[in-house]
Amino acid sequence: MCGIVGYIGKNPALPILFSGLERLEYRGYDSFGFCVLNNNKIDFLCKEKGKISDHCHLRDSKSVGTVGIAHTRWATTGLVTKENAHPHCDCKEEIFIVHNGIIENYKILKENLVKEGHKFISETDTEVLAHLIEKYFEGNLEQAVKLALREVRGTYGIAVVSPKYPNKMVAARMSSPLLIGVNSDEFIVASDPSAIITRTRQIIHLDDDEIAVLTPDNFVISKQERESSSWSVRTKKIETIEWNLEEAEKSGYKHFMMKEIMQEPSTIEDAIRGRLYFEGGNVKLGGFENVEDRLRDVSSLVLIGCGTANYACKVGEYMLEEYAGIPTETDIGSEFRYRKSLFSKNAAGIFVSQSGETADTLAALREMKEKGLLTLGVTNVVGSNQARETDAGVYTRSGPEIAVASTKAFIGQLTTLALITVYLGRQREMALVMGNRIIDEISKLPELAQEVLDTKEDIKRIVGKYIDYKDFWYIGRKYNYPIALEGALKLKEVSYVHAEGTAGGELKHGPLALIDENCPTIAICPSDSVYEKMISNIEEIKARNGKVIAIATKGNEDIKKIVDDVIYIPKTLEMLTPILSVIPLHLFSYYFADALGKDIDKPKNLAKSVTVE
Ligand code: M6R
Repeated sequence: MCGIVGYIGKNPALPILFSGLERLEYRGYDSFGFCVLNNNKIDFLCKEKGKISDHCHLRDSKSVGTVGIAHTRWATTGLVTKENAHPHCDCKEEIFIVHNGIIENYKILKENLVKEGHKFISETDTEVLAHLIEKYFEGNLEQAVKLALREVRGTYGIAVVSPKYPNKMVAARMSSPLLIGVNSDEFIVASDPSAIITRTRQIIHLDDDEIAVLTPDNFVISKQERESSSWSVRTKKIETIEWNLEEAEKSGYKHFMMKEIMQEPSTIEDAIRGRLYFEGGNVKLGGFENVEDRLRDVSSLVLIGCGTANYACKVGEYMLEEYAGIPTETDIGSEFRYRKSLFSKNAAGIFVSQSGETADTLAALREMKEKGLLTLGVTNVVGSNQARETDAGVYTRSGPEIAVASTKAFIGQLTTLALITVYLGRQREMALVMGNRIIDEISKLPELAQEVLDTKEDIKRIVGKYIDYKDFWYIGRKYNYPIALEGALKLKEVSYVHAEGTAGGELKHGPLALIDENCPTIAICPSDSVYEKMISNIEEIKARNGKVIAIATKGNEDIKKIVDDVIYIPKTLEMLTPILSVIPLHLFSYYFADALGKDIDKPKNLAKSVTVE
């Protein structure tokens, strides 16, 4: 949510900031801005509404300054206006700041600053920070930032520059990701590695309460000790970004979403690589090694994630209860934290998130930690807040997911949850033969997923038949109930067409009132333990003249007699069917949105990682 880039070095900053912002745009894209300094002057200052990709001419603006900051915004506090776009500055235009996160006590701080004579031009919480730094600015930029940050409550990743100190940048972090890209003649501060990957793969992650002071040749990171409030210098490890530039590019695809759907088979392959242990009918999860004994004692689980990640949790709930025999419940982060949850002593939480930065999921995680319970992560982004804060975890290894709509990351989450089910199951009652059967089926999934993708032209043709419909229903049962929810979410998210998902059995408890010839249903009905029940539901729909597109198991010819269109998926174990049945739904949403000419990778009003509550 929002993206930050800051540059300090020996090269002109603007083109580097520009291409960094282009790569960050998926995190927020309703407005953007730059501030570049050249010696003691502001060399380039610009804020615009809209997407940076619609203002490419700015890249070639005359600017030679070698220090600068830039930001792409997803509005939280204040409307989408030029004034509310970052960077924000103080009254004297001596402090420029870009900020990700939210300053929760900004209203009271603003009231006080206004009383003290500060003039505000935006509605944002970020501008308060600029004026607060101004208040403490007595010739030492980092000292002023430190004093200002002492007064704020909330989350931030910030980069600050001042024309008074043109060879300096101050960056700080609290619960909002920030890293420094380290190169031979430059440093790049960014909220996401994709902003810097074209220039360097060497990065340092800032931690909470840390502040970095950068010059063109050097940087110093210090941390504020919570107890004493004193600052101590930190030596940080330089890490290497593991993925390639190609992974952050469209590589010939029209959209990232399509590229990422096409990567679904390799996502499964990456998630299981080196983790299947055939001799022992088990899986090896290095991330669980340190908590192996504690996991043996876990008596109940709560799975938490938001949006698509929450649907992965829901599938995980079915898997874990059926095969690991552990009482499991699922919740969404934003609800969990306001419940009076009652846990047994040996309960544990599994937090599922692509980004590892989703504020609601993190808040739920912290809530569970406070209760002293074991917290586990299923995370894609290495080094994210979630990955650092959970007691143990398993990376999904899905690689960068750039499209706002989550597709391959969901497949990675489902695969990882299947592995965790085997792991926990084998710690309990699961027999070796069952462990073997599951991992054998898991090992076949990449090939089976590819088979589904190979039917993409058929799916595109079916989309063509339904493109004029304005409402869709999705139904599924048991393992495929969450897939109905995911299918509906994906369609509305990228095509803005109304879609709802329901458990098949719930149709007659209300939604059936809306079913007629104008509202087609996508019924996920592989040949599994609830197939007959799904057929009854489909018949209820057909009796009301509703059209039905079925996702069915290859070889099921009978279904053609009942429904209007069929998309086939190969046979696999029931618990693994969601990993295959969701693929046609991802393709359906993609082709639907593409046929309607939507901005598929950056749907309106949305952003990639939701780092605010
Ligand atoms: O990064 P996370 O997995 O925690 O994100 C959770 C949701 O915000 C995310 O899955 C969202 O629902 C997607 N845009 C859905 O496609």
